[in-house]
Amino acid sequence: MKVLVSGGAGYIGSHTVVRLVEAGHDVVIVDNFSNAVPAVLGRLEALTGTAIPCHAFDLTDHDKTAHLFAAEAFEAVIHFAGYKAVGESVAKPLDYYENNLGSTFSLLRAMQRHDVTKLVFSSSATVYGTDQAGATEDRRTFATNPYGWTKVMQEQIMRDVAVASPEMRFALLRYFNPVGAHPSGTIGEDPSDVPNNLMPYIAQVAVGRREKLQVFGDDYDTPDGTGVRDYIHVADLAAGHVAALEALDRTQDAVNVWNLGSGRGTSVLELLHAFEKAVGRDLPYEIVGRRPGDVASSYADPAKANAELHWRTEKSVEDMCADTWRWQSQNPQGYAG
Ligand code: UFG
Repeated sequence: MKVLVSGGAGYIGSHTVVRLVEAGHDVVIVDNFSNAVPAVLGRLEALTGTAIPCHAFDLTDHDKTAHLFAAEAFEAVIHFAGYKAVGESVAKPLDYYENNLGSTFSLLRAMQRHDVTKLVFSSSATVYGTDQAGATEDRRTFATNPYGWTKVMQEQIMRDVAVASPEMRFALLRYFNPVGAHPSGTIGEDPSDVPNNLMPYIAQVAVGRREKLQVFGDDYDTPDGTGVRDYIHVADLAAGHVAALEALDRTQDAVNVWNLGSGRGTSVLELLHAFEKAVGRDLPYEIVGRRPGDVASSYADPAKANAELHWRTEKSVEDMCADTWRWQSQNPQGYAG
């Protein structure tokens, strides 16, 4: 299939591009590089043996988006592009609504105009709001911050479009906590600022860029008191996207929702200790107060994706830590060196 990948230079997007090319698909990237760097493109070429065409513009630009769809005969879109920092979304709600909804409007308009019927959408467990433990896809959706609401709203927009255009096929993929890196160590997560998320923060402590990890609360109702999450290796997540894309060819349903997670929970301290094993030494940390808005536990019920996509996670927490460390130790400053 000829597939447009929005946000294809970003963390999850770049790993999915590799997997798509390996599966024989023809990939085109569109990315405005607001949270990615062009250096990833050379790494992708080295990994795949193919120069991946990349269009550098903002999808909220309807004219440029329309022009791209007129020039290329896409058969499907995987839509990653979007702002994704929870705290920033609380401070800048209009930026989040404008960017995340605007890019989706632009894409859906162009898809309709050019009869592109398949869209795989990068949604999130955040649509389960405060109710993320053991979530099945039929659980009611709501959010606790503007970022989360943009995901809930984009899902709703796609459902409404599917009613009006029943030939459309949507995959709404609700990810849990993506971590890890390509096993080559050549592509990985490269936060442009202080990492918000646990795994990149631990990796930067290990490589000496941050002094110590702050563990946000040890008084949750979890086995060791620290927050529990369902970490999913980005390579498993990438495989889930390819499986979803291919499933859209055989499904009768216009809207298909799939949780992508392992179904297993890992605490902050368990992840830290697994990372220490990968690095071969202890890492400094301190327990501090809870981070506002955090839930105690979040983990998927992935049974629907397992059955319908013939997909399941294969990588362990040890793999996630080893691969993150390989990426971080080979690229201490990320793509900058
Ligand atoms: N944590 C720390 N210290 C840190 C960073 C995180 O202790 O420096 C803890 C958090 O309190 C939490 C766990 O590590 O218990 C995981 O936190 P992350 O920030 O890595 O991930 P979240 O589960 O908070 O957020 C992720 C995505 C969001 C998405 C959400 C879905 O980053 O985009 O899952 O609910 F909205």
